[in-house]
Amino acid sequence: MNKIDIIAGARPNFMKIGPIIHAIHEYNNKSSLQIEYRLIHTGQHYDKKMSEDFFEQLNIPKPHINLGVGSGTQAEQTANIMIKYEKALTEWKPDLCLVVGDVTSTMACAITAKKQWVKVAHVEGGIRSYDEKMPEEINRMVTDSITDIFFTTTKLANQNLKNLGHDDDKIYFVGNTMIDSLIGNLERLKEPPLWIDNKLSKNSYLVMTLHRPSNVDGMDNLRSLLKVINDNVGNKKVIFPMHPRTKKMYEQLGMQFSNLIITSPMSYLEFIFLIKNSAGVITDSGGITEETTVLKIPCLTLRDSTERPETVSIGTNELVGKNPKDIVRYLKKLEAGNWKVGGIPELWDGQTAQRIVKIIASL
Ligand code: UD1
Repeated sequence: MNKIDIIAGARPNFMKIGPIIHAIHEYNNKSSLQIEYRLIHTGQHYDKKMSEDFFEQLNIPKPHINLGVGSGTQAEQTANIMIKYEKALTEWKPDLCLVVGDVTSTMACAITAKKQWVKVAHVEGGIRSYDEKMPEEINRMVTDSITDIFFTTTKLANQNLKNLGHDDDKIYFVGNTMIDSLIGNLERLKEPPLWIDNKLSKNSYLVMTLHRPSNVDGMDNLRSLLKVINDNVGNKKVIFPMHPRTKKMYEQLGMQFSNLIITSPMSYLEFIFLIKNSAGVITDSGGITEETTVLKIPCLTLRDSTERPETVSIGTNELVGKNPKDIVRYLKKLEAGNWKVGGIPELWDGQTAQRIVKIIASL
């Protein structure tokens, strides 16, 4: 297969596609057979801080096409992406549409490509939280149901796919391209200005990210979560780069939390710098639990389920849930320096994108 569309739409996609594009360039430099690709940004995330900064820092080339869909309800975003991507497919027909992760753009482009008889590859296929209240779980289920080639991050994902009846010869366990970005950029991390402004030092603070609708879309919910964290972090400050969705709700709270240092969304190199030097991370993201696992930083996940159980069974992640009592218990454990050490899942070694490109070229 040598004509590919690569789809990216939202922040967590960018660190997954970057290494694949770099591996394609590397492959093309060495091989007589060339892989031609089109990078398509759906425009689901459009703020400079949620998108452009990541392209710059991760050396991702400018997208060939930006569908510019912007914000909307789940259905509006899905529909707009499908309408615009279908048009883009009439201009150039690839052999393969490569989608990553579990965002709305992933599912919308997979469906559109498949209906145009374009084969679909899903990077990070097969993972499941079994929580169908999460839009991401629906996106995973729908995308995987029409995927032709799965690139998986873990052996459990392979097993999930086999249990669903997918044939072995469609499934390639390759590792984690998000970790390729992490390992590839460790030497380039950047100290953010707030490091000096707040006199931060290694292990003197926590980092927090919250953006799941279940945590941030209800005022009472968000207020009680922030209060319990603010009141139980001991002498540590919590750096809280705020997602736009969370910010909208937070502004309505009209409250101050003395231990929370709130900032805008951070660029990749600064954010990883902060995580790497932190005493721990509080999050409801999935991707961050993978990054903390590899960096061996304690991680408290404020969710009841995870589609990445290896971050708990092998890594440094704990599924804390949203009950204030449990949050306090885990914060105390962290303060006492009582956290598990953790290992690194198989093939999360920084070489995943090369494996993916080699497989695509051989098909
Ligand atoms: C999306 C993904 C989620 C991922 C998250 C990372 C889906 C279903 N969810 O959730 O899996 O973890 O991205 O950020 O695809 N907004 C801005 N500027 C932007 C982008 C969004 O202000 O650049 C605002 C939107 O107007 C909207 C809110 O943020 O009100 C949510 O954006 P949306 O892309 O719908 O979903 P996320 O919550 O970001």
